[in-house]
Amino acid sequence: MPEKTLFDSYKLGPITLKNRVVMAPLTRSRADHGDAPGELNAEYYEQRAGAGLIISEATQVSRQGQGYLWTPGIYTQDQVNGWKKVVSAVHSRGGQIFLQMWHVGRISHVSFQPNGDRPISSTDRAAENTYSFALDESGNLGNVPASQPRIATIEDLRQVVADYGRGARHAKDAGFDGAEVHGANGYLFDQFLNSEVNQRDDEYGRHTKETRTRLLLEAFDSVAAVLGPDRVGVRIAPYGTFGGMSPDPKVEETFLHLGQQLTHRGAAYVHIVRGSQNDPEPMVPQEFFRKFREAFGGTIIVTGGLNKSKAEQMLDEGLADLQGFGMLYISNPDLVERFRNNWPLAATDQATLYGGGAKGYTDYPFYKDEQIKREVKEPLDIH
Ligand code: PHB
Repeated sequence: MPEKTLFDSYKLGPITLKNRVVMAPLTRSRADHGDAPGELNAEYYEQRAGAGLIISEATQVSRQGQGYLWTPGIYTQDQVNGWKKVVSAVHSRGGQIFLQMWHVGRISHVSFQPNGDRPISSTDRAAENTYSFALDESGNLGNVPASQPRIATIEDLRQVVADYGRGARHAKDAGFDGAEVHGANGYLFDQFLNSEVNQRDDEYGRHTKETRTRLLLEAFDSVAAVLGPDRVGVRIAPYGTFGGMSPDPKVEETFLHLGQQLTHRGAAYVHIVRGSQNDPEPMVPQEFFRKFREAFGGTIIVTGGLNKSKAEQMLDEGLADLQGFGMLYISNPDLVERFRNNWPLAATDQATLYGGGAKGYTDYPFYKDEQIKREVKEPLDIH
């Protein structure tokens, strides 16, 4: 067998990816009016269509599911129309794109909620040291502490599952190649998965692996009923502490069970958040990857703090099939070509990550263009 490389094509269920490089979901907070994507967003994604697979930025399935200003939604017709522009731009360059479907749960603020209600969760405890980006009481824009949540009623949870179903129908209308259910990073489903955060005693409660995983699996089924399970992935962040998550002694039990359940369902993939670009120490132990590989029979994507050589190493070790890059994709629209040719990588400007317009969004040059213009900048070589 020849060695696997990042540049191999890869069969992901019914679709064939042109390489194993995934553009990971990235919040950029640049949606247009009505939280609908516009031309600028289409241009940004089109520039990055060299990736084998693009996973869109986190996209709220309802107003209730929103936690930050200017993140896009998938619950109105305008939003669907906006996403159509994005999807067709990506397809025009031979790329493929999944929609990441999001409900933030308690990482929200009352100003987003219908009727100014409290955000819903598995707990009535606010996430500690966690911020929403919203208008505060005085109408000023900024980071505001996530509001105190209320424990969701069964009816609320049915509505969430239905909202995922509607999101999937909209994703299909918009032409997406598939969808990813966001079960990571302290957002709604993670609040149920974590036995230290979840305070419920019912069929969605903290006591068993079946009850902790129920809500996420119901949302998965709701999306899979529309798109087919082989076009639906799930993102998870076991061991993650982002979003006010607590270390959970049940982490293995919960996530290995989830992996088995997703195998039975024929899920397209599981996308594991391994760490972050800013933190060289991955939070997910190598041992967990080995166990998860046994528990889950499908494709595994790994993202977080990877560079080319770390990604190749994970591929060699057989622990992941597809390799996700977030931060690097912001400043290197041609990331695959840079990897292929060992060209230097451009550094990401942290000041323009969220909000604003083209600056720090669609103005990062392609390496070849940069060479032609002889714009000699000091590159950051992080191979
Ligand atoms: C964010 O908007 O800060 C954000 C969104 C989704 C994530 C992580 C962070 O998974």
